Amino acid sequence: MQFHERIRQELDELRALDRFRVLPDISERNGKHIVVNGKSLLNLSSNDYLGIGDDEPLLSGYTQAFSETGHAMTSSSSRLLTGNHPLYDQLEQALAALYHREAALVFNSGYHANIGMLPALSSRHDLILSDRLNHASIIDGMKIAEAPYQRFRHRDYDHLEELLAGAAGRYRQIFIVTESVFSMDGDLADLERLVALKEKYEAFLIIDEAHAVGVFGEHGLGLCETAGMVQQIDIITGTFGKALASTGAYAVMSALFRDYLLNTMRSVIFTTALPPVILGWSLLTLARQSAMRVERQELLRLAARLRHELIERGFDVPGESHIVPVITGGNDLAVAMAAKLRGEGFLCMPVRPPTVPEKSARIRISLRSILQWEDIARIPEIIGD
Ligand SMILES: Cc1ncc(COP(=O)(O)O)c(C=O)c1O
Repeated sequence: MQFHERIRQELDELRALDRFRVLPDISERNGKHIVVNGKSLLNLSSNDYLGIGDDEPLLSGYTQAFSETGHAMTSSSSRLLTGNHPLYDQLEQALAALYHREAALVFNSGYHANIGMLPALSSRHDLILSDRLNHASIIDGMKIAEAPYQRFRHRDYDHLEELLAGAAGRYRQIFIVTESVFSMDGDLADLERLVALKEKYEAFLIIDEAHAVGVFGEHGLGLCETAGMVQQIDIITGTFGKALASTGAYAVMSALFRDYLLNTMRSVIFTTALPPVILGWSLLTLARQSAMRVERQELLRLAARLRHELIERGFDVPGESHIVPVITGGNDLAVAMAAKLRGEGFLCMPVRPPTVPEKSARIRISLRSILQWEDIARIPEIIGD
């Protein structure tokens, strides 16, 4: 009973702190809108940044074609046993070709990618250096890894260099890991500087492009493409669950590292492979997004305009991407702002510690290329009142 009591107490504490999580009641997601608790709201909380998930002709064409092949809803086994499928090869070849890299590896999710990669690559003789605001999945990967880790101040590459200089010669291999577009702040990593540091200190650089794929770069390959650094970065990861409107994740790398990960990465080896129905859809959405140059430009223009209007009204709005956070500092204000927007027909989430650092609560507006300025023009006025 003691254990049950402790669990109950912990949940009560979460409730008292206003941090108790419940699943939302979502009955419909339909283009720009989402129905939550029976109310239709403009969805400003989706990661389907290009609206591919609502592309009806693409979707119905695909489901029709796929239903003819049959038995594709499960892979029934891990890839190394009987779960592999020709669509995996096609998808990995398409990714490698798109990035002009030797090889690609597909994972079940970005979470699987991040909890598996660093533990597979590093040993206790190595060191991992990670941006302080990296996603929870990267942090969990570092906790599983045997290598010690240190966190550098967010986007503070002088601090990173201090740590690199201090670590030089003391470890077998140093890894640097960062997001490119930060998921909660919408700001951008300086990839040129990171590549320069990686080269100077012979470190191994891993860039998580989860929120950049589809949105940045001529072919939607992310910030690595914008920065012209696709070939210089050791491993670039991307997810299928966001702008690519599917499920799963991938990394591009050399053939050597692909072989190594396939042999050592526990979140690849010990899990059931993705079902073919998902792999085929990912192939299609990957090709679709790479041609959506105009949508990318429009999305970034829309974000710049909203940021500008909010800053004009005195709000603290960091970042330079389609993720537009309005920092409130206090939790109560973030919750009140989100509630006010919801009352006016907009869904965007308050984000509070521990998801973000203490005293940096915010509402997070996630824009999509299917939105027009008229859809969101009232937001600055509503939260400014
Ligand atoms: C930066 C980053 N990496 C990885 C993930 C995890 O990806 P997935 O949702 O595919 O597990 C996310 C988001 O969920 C993310 O924001």
